[in-house]
Amino acid sequence: MKRLARLSVLVPIAMSPAFAGDNESLAGLRMECDTCHGVDGVSVVPDQTPTIAGKSEAYLFRQLQAFETGKRRHETMLMMGQKLSDQEMKALARYYSRVKR
Ligand code: HEC
Repeated sequence: MKRLARLSVLVPIAMSPAFAGDNESLAGLRMECDTCHGVDGVSVVPDQTPTIAGKSEAYLFRQLQAFETGKRRHETMLMMGQKLSDQEMKALARYYSRVKR
């Protein structure tokens, strides 16, 4: 019994990664991006915050990584980059690259 109790504590932790790769987790992340970048990444203030919709997946992914490492310098995007995993960056880059404008 003791063994079982311990297992039931471990299992939920193992099964709840930060990002499951599903649409729901992606939607949660997108809400943050869209706050600045506009609905579906189409900016209403492009001179301040660039539109990310419809740009190539590889480009978007590279920019997110560049922000994370500080190669491309920007305070806010540095913070965003640092909190995103590679998997999340890939999923976001894929999503926004496919938005039709
Ligand atoms: C608080 C506002 C804010 C949030 C939230 C935010 N961004 Fe940004 N983002 C910016 C600004 C401002 C820039 C322009 C940076 C610059 O001038 O280099 C930018 C730049 C970018 C670029 C580069 C675009 C280009 O054309 O080169 C990408 C890609 C990007 N953001 C993706 C995201 C993603 C994905 C999210 C959500 C995880 C996100 N951003 C959240 C403000 C924000």
